Amino acid sequence: MDWLAGAYLWIVAAHVIVVIFWMAGMFMLPRYLVYHQEALAAGRAEEAALWTLRETKLRRIILTPAMVAVWVLGLTLATIGQHWGEGWLHAKLLFVLLLSGYHGWAVGYARRLARGEMRLTGRTLRMVNEVPALMAIVIVVLAFVKPF
Ligand code: HEM
Repeated sequence: MDWLAGAYLWIVAAHVIVVIFWMAGMFMLPRYLVYHQEALAAGRAEEAALWTLRETKLRRIILTPAMVAVWVLGLTLATIGQHWGEGWLHAKLLFVLLLSGYHGWAVGYARRLARGEMRLTGRTLRMVNEVPALMAIVIVVLAFVKPF
């Protein structure tokens, strides 16, 4: 069983590394959306097109691969560490699902901006920016403290 315990630690390390990549992207994309929308609203079409390019690269190179890796490694840890049935994991999964939903929403909003649609006001967009930070706080506390 020793090799499994050793492997477990390496997988936790890999899990936390890809979590950092995912969260870095999740902090960047909503900020890009604010700048993108400002450029669009001011009629700076060339700058807006540049933001579309940056958003697409961020999604393809960091966001999507990191999210998939976080899920695969997290579910592997839950299985080999026999954490299924523990309350903290179910609560954590709920918040990770919400974070994944937010990820999808932000990617969808970037696509809308690329088509010239602005559904939210700049103020609302800025407020919505804070969601990933709040989710990260809850998820990390659940993962480390395991309050239930
Ligand atoms: C995608 C679904 C996820 C699943 C199924 C999952 C599951 C797990 C499991 C089973 C562990 C090992 C806990 C232990 O052995 O004590 C773990 C560790 C950890 N996870 Fe996740 N996780 C997921 C996503 C995330 C996300 C999104 C974050 C942060 C935003 C995160 C942050 C952490 C941290 C910081 C640890 C290390 C905790 C420790 O070593 O005590 N996880 N995760």
